[in-house]
Amino acid sequence: MTQQQRSELEGTVAVVTGASSGIGAAVAKMLARRGAKGAICARRQPRLDALKAEIEAELPKAIVWTHAIDLREPVAIMAMFEAIAEQLGPVDVLINNAGLGRPAPLSERGDAYAGWAEMLDVNVMALSVCTAEAIAQMRPRNASGHIVHVSSMAGYRIPKEGGFYGATKHAVRALTEGLRRELWEQNSPIRVSAVSPGNVKTEFGSVFFSDPEKAEAMYAQGVPLTPEDIATAVEFVLTAPEHVQVHDVLLRPRTQAD
Ligand SMILES: NC(=O)c1ccc[n+]([C@@H]2O[C@H](COP(=O)([O-])OP(=O)(O)OC[C@H]3O[C@@H](n4cnc5c(N)ncnc54)[C@H](OP(=O)(O)O)[C@@H]3O)[C@@H](O)[C@H]2O)c1
Repeated sequence: MTQQQRSELEGTVAVVTGASSGIGAAVAKMLARRGAKGAICARRQPRLDALKAEIEAELPKAIVWTHAIDLREPVAIMAMFEAIAEQLGPVDVLINNAGLGRPAPLSERGDAYAGWAEMLDVNVMALSVCTAEAIAQMRPRNASGHIVHVSSMAGYRIPKEGGFYGATKHAVRALTEGLRRELWEQNSPIRVSAVSPGNVKTEFGSVFFSDPEKAEAMYAQGVPLTPEDIATAVEFVLTAPEHVQVHDVLLRPRTQAD
């Protein structure tokens, strides 16, 4: 990578939520290669430690700050953003990646409610709180910050067994456009973008089905996207010239029908 290619993100403070696996981990690596200072968070601290070690082995000068957090706690999110500003400086880039799906049927009482609440809390509430906290650190500096929501093709069509998950990703789509309109009204230099993948081979499937074999069978139906494919899309969004605001990038595996 040339110095020119690194330059847009060099020295920026970039937060990645849900960096302990899958897409978030791949995005964190991409940002480190671009010279960003990374604040990476998720619940599983050992995974974050391993990712930090992997990045530092490849890039000895990389700055990676890890933080264990359950993003269902808005107060914990507020404290984390304060800590990021203290440790690394004010936030320039936020990748709202943490998220999950549960089958959580819409026509059954009981157990499904916990799945609905978890999806709403992580996919919608945490994304919104992180966004507001990041903007609070960008706005006083009139910084050309960037918020990227990792949404889903489920924000455009409703997957089988995924009605509630689809509802949360339709919400992310609405939140992307809602924030864009607000920032435009304020004549803000902050940009907001989404990246909306179809099937990506990560731990998402085993979390969704609570069964790694079922997840493996789903991914074996075609050639799924890789976390690196999504990191490349995020990189494209972040490195577009400042007057360009990529609204959403929709990606499907060529072999995926719906
Ligand atoms: N894989 C796909 O096919 C696919 C398709 C479209 C969109 N997406 C979206 O892509 C994003 C990343 O998912 P992925 O595919 O990379 O799945 P993944 O491998 O399961 O990663 C999900 C990440 O979210 C974190 N997370 C979940 N609940 C959390 C909580 N309560 N607090 C903090 N962190 C939490 C997880 O960390 P901990 O468990 O360590 O907390 C993990 O790092 C999600 O928003 C997902 O909806 C995925």
